[in-house]
Amino acid sequence: MSERIANAALQGKVMSAEEAAQFIDNGATVGMSGFTGAGYPKALPTAIAERAKKEHAAGNDYKINVLTGASTAPDCDGVLAEADAINYRAPYQSDPSMRKAINSAAMKYQDIHLSHMGMLVQQNFIDVDVAVIEAVRITEEGNVVPSSAVGNNVEYMDAADKIIIEINEWQSLELEGMHDIWEMPKLPNRVPIPITKPGDRIGTPYIEVDPEKIVAIVKTDEADRNAPFKPADEISEKIAGNFLDFLEAEVAAGRLSYDGYIMQSGVGNVPNAVMAGLLDSKFNNIQAYTEVIQDGMVDLIDSGKMTVASATSFSLSPEYAHKMNEEASNYREHIILRPQQISNHPEVIRRVGLIATNGMIESDIYGNINSTNVSGTRMMNGIGGSGDFTRNAYISSFISPSEAKDGKISTIVPFASHIDHTEHDAMVVITEYGYADLRGLAPRDRVAKMIAIAHPDYRAQLEEYYERALKGKALHTPHDLGTAFSFHINLAENGTMRLD
Ligand code: COA
Repeated sequence: MSERIANAALQGKVMSAEEAAQFIDNGATVGMSGFTGAGYPKALPTAIAERAKKEHAAGNDYKINVLTGASTAPDCDGVLAEADAINYRAPYQSDPSMRKAINSAAMKYQDIHLSHMGMLVQQNFIDVDVAVIEAVRITEEGNVVPSSAVGNNVEYMDAADKIIIEINEWQSLELEGMHDIWEMPKLPNRVPIPITKPGDRIGTPYIEVDPEKIVAIVKTDEADRNAPFKPADEISEKIAGNFLDFLEAEVAAGRLSYDGYIMQSGVGNVPNAVMAGLLDSKFNNIQAYTEVIQDGMVDLIDSGKMTVASATSFSLSPEYAHKMNEEASNYREHIILRPQQISNHPEVIRRVGLIATNGMIESDIYGNINSTNVSGTRMMNGIGGSGDFTRNAYISSFISPSEAKDGKISTIVPFASHIDHTEHDAMVVITEYGYADLRGLAPRDRVAKMIAIAHPDYRAQLEEYYERALKGKALHTPHDLGTAFSFHINLAENGTMRLD
């Protein structure tokens, strides 16, 4: 363990998770590590959940506020939601039990742009009492080497009065050297972020902390969540093919080169299929300035097609996580893990000129995108980093099957029932039926392109709506507000958006 805790004074702080949980009082705000199922604390959440259950059984109040990098896992968000241990949660989650608690008002959730969270803490909008951070190692000086995600670890440890470190021996010591920690100075002393290319390293491989604030160290040996990806199905392969056709068209138009395409990619099976498509493409020297390193990027690195991937976290299948743990030292020259304020910073995103590609719940016929609320009101996951990238990318694209829930739902609708990314930000929408390039088009000129990528079974319904909208008086963005949500109302009343 001394290899993992090199600071002699801190070795005396090792204790059980149950003991460490006693530092977290009712009402405390806890800033945790963790991003997309990687690098989250593995022991404290269960210990806090058990404490909450005991307190509740004894008739006492016990709820905490939980901040993280992004989503975590069933043994973090899941156990805390099931124990009714959370009052307020931010900035992102994707856990089924937590989703249920949020939508039934058993807990509060604030869905925040991932690049904003650290800033809100740094600028004292939100106070952090305790930071609970997973690490691979504590150095002799007491500095912390994060594990498979950096997230908001820097801001949470800076702001917290007390820090609890989980040293996870499952995480490879070879991750040390992959991180690049650079902290944005507080206002009014902000400076330009000195990154001009995704591969630039600008900081230290560890997080500097005041060792006096470390009140407990808990040892764990648990794997990250690491959900396997589904094998690509016919629809994801078609979407990936259409995305590649779009990239090829950009090259033909002289707006993109086969050399040096810079990508941001949301997480999921379809983005992974896109990366598989890139393996057989003419693109070379591909670079990622993104949030999350996924299996597809590891394959692109292995093939020599991707030279560098900058992110804040991994989100790998169990097989690829094992490979990363075994071979981290070989990947260090290709992978950089940064704080999420930097991986998602508008300044750098705009500067590097990347192409952003994210999933969506639905788009309307004008290109307004709903990423978060099913039928306008049921929270799915959250906006995550999609807003950070969509608003600031060189080209912003959304990829989605044209239908959800076995065809009962069209993902192209007359009016988006909740809007996360407006028509001013979304540029290209891609389904298995093609891509709608909305750039340079006035609203009315976008409609035919959007209907052409809708599922054929819904095209007549969309056309009928648009014809009705054209009978109105205001024709810049024609709508018939009385029937704008007819698809959603039909879904609520009849269990399907289909009229036939
Ligand atoms: N209405 C209802 N449900 C819908 C839907 C719609 N219009 N569109 C998708 N869904 C459901 C799917 O049926 C599926 O449900 P299931 O899990 O029960 O099978 C689920 O949403 C996921 O859809 P899928 O088609 O597999 O795509 P995905 O995994 O890419 O998820 C989002 C789509 C929008 C939920 C997801 O991309 C997301 O949370 N985005 C916001 C955050 C983000 O973009 N982060 C990226 C920055 S890294």
